[in-house]
Amino acid sequence: MPTIKQLPPEVVSKIAAGEVIERPASVLKELLENAADSGASRIIIDIERAGRQLIRVSDDGCGISAQDLELALARHATSKISSFEDLDSLSTFGFRGEALYSIGAVSRMAISSYQAGAAVAAQVFCEGGALARRSEAPPVPGTTVEVRDLFFNVPARAKFLKSDNTERSHLFRAAEECALANPHIAVQLRCDGAEIFSLPAVREGSQGLLSRVKTVLGADAARNLLFAEAAPLGMSAYFSRPGALPASRDLQFFFVNRRPVSSRLLQQALYRAYNEYRQQGRHPACAVWLQLKPSDFDVNIHPQKKDVRFANESAVFNLVRQTVESAIAAAMTPAAQAAAGTDAPSASGPVPAARGIFEQAGPPEQPAAPLAVSDNPVPPFASELPRQVYEHARMQSQEQPGQWDGCRYLGQALNTYLLFEVQDAGLVVLDQHAAQERLFFDSYLEQLRTGGKPPVQKLLLPYAVELPASMAARIEQWRGWLDSAGFELENLGSGHIAVHGVPSLFNFDEDSARSLLESLASVLGDPDKCSEDVRRNTLATMACKKAVKSREKLSPTEAVRLFRDIQKAPVKTCPHGRPVMAVISPQEMARLFSRSKAA
Ligand SMILES: Nc1ncnc2c1ncn2[C@@H]1O[C@H](COP(=O)(O)OP(=O)(O)OP(=O)(O)O)[C@@H](O)[C@H]1O
Ligand SMILES: [Mg+2]
Repeated sequence: MPTIKQLPPEVVSKIAAGEVIERPASVLKELLENAADSGASRIIIDIERAGRQLIRVSDDGCGISAQDLELALARHATSKISSFEDLDSLSTFGFRGEALYSIGAVSRMAISSYQAGAAVAAQVFCEGGALARRSEAPPVPGTTVEVRDLFFNVPARAKFLKSDNTERSHLFRAAEECALANPHIAVQLRCDGAEIFSLPAVREGSQGLLSRVKTVLGADAARNLLFAEAAPLGMSAYFSRPGALPASRDLQFFFVNRRPVSSRLLQQALYRAYNEYRQQGRHPACAVWLQLKPSDFDVNIHPQKKDVRFANESAVFNLVRQTVESAIAAAMTPAAQAAAGTDAPSASGPVPAARGIFEQAGPPEQPAAPLAVSDNPVPPFASELPRQVYEHARMQSQEQPGQWDGCRYLGQALNTYLLFEVQDAGLVVLDQHAAQERLFFDSYLEQLRTGGKPPVQKLLLPYAVELPASMAARIEQWRGWLDSAGFELENLGSGHIAVHGVPSLFNFDEDSARSLLESLASVLGDPDKCSEDVRRNTLATMACKKAVKSREKLSPTEAVRLFRDIQKAPVKTCPHGRPVMAVISPQEMARLFSRSKAA
């Protein structure tokens, strides 16, 4: 049995630091919280090389006295609580007294600080947890913490860092959370010398807060926001108007007493409020601030203080759900929609009210298309149909369309389903959109697989997409590869992306292109760590999902072509897994009508 021994202090500090400091964004989060706790009115953030080289946070807060500066680096040293009971009335972000200690243990850190009116200002340097040097500093009120060479002495941790773009987007998220949590503080973020945002301080409850929300959520998501609040002490929130939900789930920010938290409970309450108003693949953007009594929740669960436990979970759940739900219900009345000008179909389209199966439908908007088959060999929508699919289909349809090989086209129902009577098989119902998606998907995948760049539809007027800086950074990471897949993008900086070209196989309008980029930003990982197959499949699936449905009515010729093509497709589900067709056998039909045997 090996003998038991006390671990050396430097090993202890590295192990402890591992819990608090996981990546550059954890450093930034801790420094920002300290700056906010110091009563600062301005915070300036500088990042270099995705935080690996430098993370610097300067504030104009209360500062640390020269004699306390070294103590600030010690473990469990804090000015924010003095007893465990203080947690019940906590009003600061920090309380554990281990952030600076942990950062110092795994980096080269310099802190300079000055308390207004003090005789001297001091600066300390710490390297891998050891105090390296101490000197005088310029008497500028406030504190500047500079963290360089993160994980220089923990190579195993450095190895697990993701690409610069991924780390950068986490860093941006930490800065965004700080900006939303502290509207009264001016926040400036610079990355590799370029300004990412500079937000003036705003009064809470003013229009200024909305402009901050817009910067963080991106102009597109922010265009369609609802606002609701509950009780003076309780909750206030901005969240997406139904019918305008972004494709990304990254635009959700929850704060409890200003502290950014990740909470399944809060997220579920939000989704429950949207219930029937949320389409698959769409996620509400939100900034939700809860204000609770400190004794009503616990953040002392994990050293990173991101998790939160509520004393009364159902009360919090109901508060969030009901507040959001009532605002949505009020916004969805016809009068409110007309006033907001949202009755025109938007990106995701207004959510249609569910209609019972026996409710009477209104009169059809157009007379149903006659079943006569056109002689015109080029279908009227040929120009809209992706060329390759059309050519392929044309070669297949030499016989009389509408009927062949014991198969008869019966017509289109509900603008979506194509009905066929097929000898021996029975009644076949084809989901037109799912089938078209399958064919576009297979075609696109084939083009990517064969190596050449798929044909690109150049846009005369580029689509303008504005994303939060963190998402734009992720798209930028993939730009080269997306170009080879037919998406011609230009990064205009500050989250603005111009789309100059899209794969011509798909039909993208501006909203669907934007929604595709949003979803890609949330699913794409590190390009270097993902196989070519995964890249292709991800992109093809998402492109297919986001492509707008070009048309609703199909002529019998087109319907038959689609049916024949889809029978040749190797997979009989759409790219997101929905079935393409359903078959009702003669036996099943007989059973439905209580007949003893099939007709
Ligand atoms: N920017 C700052 N301005 C003023 N004082 C600061 C600043 N940063 C740190 N301090 C002081 O240094 C102490 C230690 O900071 P540290 O972040 O390690 O612990 P904490 O904030 O008290 O708790 P936690 O570990 O939960 O963050 C703080 O309690 C505070 O007194
Ligand atoms: Mg702290």
